[in-house]
Amino acid sequence: MVSVEIEKLALLGRGLARHDGMTVFVRDALPGDRAQICITKVKPRYAEARLVQLERPSPHRITPSCRHFGACGGCDLQHVAYATQVAWKRAQLVETLQHLGGLTALPPVAVHPMTDPWHYRNKMEFSFGEVAGGRIVMGLHQRGSFQQIVKLEHCWIAPALASDVLQQVEDAANASGLPAYHPRRHDGFWRYMVIRVAQASGQAHVLLVTNEGDRDAVLRVAQAVTRAVPRVATVLWGVSTRVSDVAHPERTEALIGREVADERIGPLTVQVRPMNFVQPNLTQAERLYEELLAAAALTGREVVYDLYCGIGVIALLTAPRAQRVYGVESDPENIALASSNAARHGVANATFICGKVEELLLQRGLFRLGPPPDLVIVDPPRVGLHPDAIGPLLQAQPPRLFYLSCNPASLARDLKLLLDREPRFRLTRLSLYDFFPQTGHMEVFAALERSV
Ligand SMILES: C[S@@+](CC[C@H](N)C(=O)[O-])C[C@H]1O[C@@H](n2cnc3c(N)ncnc32)[C@H](O)[C@@H]1O
Repeated sequence: MVSVEIEKLALLGRGLARHDGMTVFVRDALPGDRAQICITKVKPRYAEARLVQLERPSPHRITPSCRHFGACGGCDLQHVAYATQVAWKRAQLVETLQHLGGLTALPPVAVHPMTDPWHYRNKMEFSFGEVAGGRIVMGLHQRGSFQQIVKLEHCWIAPALASDVLQQVEDAANASGLPAYHPRRHDGFWRYMVIRVAQASGQAHVLLVTNEGDRDAVLRVAQAVTRAVPRVATVLWGVSTRVSDVAHPERTEALIGREVADERIGPLTVQVRPMNFVQPNLTQAERLYEELLAAAALTGREVVYDLYCGIGVIALLTAPRAQRVYGVESDPENIALASSNAARHGVANATFICGKVEELLLQRGLFRLGPPPDLVIVDPPRVGLHPDAIGPLLQAQPPRLFYLSCNPASLARDLKLLLDREPRFRLTRLSLYDFFPQTGHMEVFAALERSV
């Protein structure tokens, strides 16, 4: 055990301290804390540690709203006032871009916090677990645990309706007599519940994911929950037999209601299923999309590529203002919905292509499908752009490249590669949207523009 002073908050909401010349990341520790820590992992360039005892608490500490904070893996920053969370995220973004990305001249960072930083997620995924005596409990994974579930009566970041649904499903699953799935033994029945609450209607769409087995048991749970919570409009059954901690079932069936639900995003009404990718914080996503459209200032003549397009929201928003739009996405279910949503909106100038961005760029000459791009928008997952994507992206010489990122570290790495290899690019815009209050995560919009 060692005693350290926490200097600052690092990415993902961990406190950063130095010990014996080594950088140590300490979970739950805040800048200003003096604490006894226990080092749990030593890597070549840093160590990880657990906070054992606070010797002098940071003046930034507040009482978390959720009584499960600390044990539950859902939130990392409830013990910090919201305004401070946002200020620290801004500082992390700037430091990451400067240190990892080597970017010295940054444009001013526009920061967009939430007015109400609670119950902001429109989609949430909960797991089933079991406690001593075999009782089923529902909640989120315990911090750092693949197996243990923290039973939640109320989740402060999930849609408000989710807590009611959680209790009903938990009771009905217990009444079924079937066991919860056990991730190590890979046996048992009840696995996950995904809930999405539509912005416009306030109706909930629930997906119950189980191992292969008793359909009638799932139907009884579905009936119990729709009786008890009338705003649950749909219950889908998903079967997943894979050893995976992601709720992506191999097959689904609508037990109650329709398989797809309407979701309103800005001027669009799109159809989605619980498994499809839609930004989990739509209040903030709508603000970001508005900024993106204003920054794009499309005149109707442009060719736009929306890479990593999900269900095509950005492509559908830009299509009415562009000559031609191409959306690329690797998940066939997302791309099928992108195409059907385009047809529903009468969008005839958008083409959706299913495949990996890097493979389409490298092997199939994506940008030779039509005229060269005027604007390329990329919104990759946390890993950022595949290294194979950078060369072909730059060869197409887009005058503008918009980068949406949920990970400042991969954003910094990619911006460095793009700016080193295309010196005519300038970073002209940097906006931080707090999509994920109470957690260490953030969303960033960066714009690169090529000088002629
Ligand atoms: C952050 S989401 C995109 C969200 C979308 N732009 C929106 O605003 O709704 C990233 C998407 O990239 C897809 N994806 C992941 N790896 C990919 C790859 N190598 N090529 C294409 N798409 C990929 C995922 O399925 C996911 O839908």
